[in-house]
Amino acid sequence: LFAGECTFYFGSPRIDQLPPIDLPEVAFAGRSNVGKSSLINALTGRKALARASSEPGRTKQLNFFNLSERLALVDMPGYGFAKAAKSVKEDWQETMFAYLRGRTTLERVILLLDARIELKASDKDVMELLDRAAVVFQIVLTKADQVKPGALKKKREEIEALALKHAAAYPRVVVTSSETGEGIEDLRGEIARFARS
Ligand code: GTP
Ligand code: MG
Repeated sequence: LFAGECTFYFGSPRIDQLPPIDLPEVAFAGRSNVGKSSLINALTGRKALARASSEPGRTKQLNFFNLSERLALVDMPGYGFAKAAKSVKEDWQETMFAYLRGRTTLERVILLLDARIELKASDKDVMELLDRAAVVFQIVLTKADQVKPGALKKKREEIEALALKHAAAYPRVVVTSSETGEGIEDLRGEIARFARS
């Protein structure tokens, strides 16, 4: 699946402009700068398929990537960033939430949390939204290369305990680094099960 073609095919700035219902979708959500676009690049083995940047707020629309005509990967704008203008921010968030709540082809949300950072109120809000919408999400810790093994183990245990408290959370947490490739093959396996055969 991940060895095949992966191409950008649709960008949606607004919820009334989504691509037609067709492929099953797996969406990547998380705070701005957590590493969503970088993770999509690591999973697909491309350097710049999804545009990543050290500047938070890089991804400004829902970007749909077609993986081997079998699965869509959806790169979402981040939430919880401080910089963008309020009106712009509200537009993105509204689109993001509407998509998460209402997309019939959405099979799984990969919810990214930065392994270095404490859980924020915005992360909790999104988990509650997914619980309410009954959209199953799997938590992925990012930037594992930036955390010492002991602290990483503790973080993983803490987040696994948190997942158990959320009705829609998949219990298994995957620890990743887009820099070193840690956890990438593991996450490919988790995602591949949603692909059309
Ligand atoms: P928005 O589109 O703004 O919501 O951000 P994003 O979640 O898509 O983050 P992006 O992939 O653009 O990455 C943000 C920054 O984190 C970039 O400078 C990346 O190089 C860096 N980064 C992403 N993943 C990793 C990782 O695994 N390890 C390290 N060390 N840095 C990472
Ligand atoms: Mg991005």
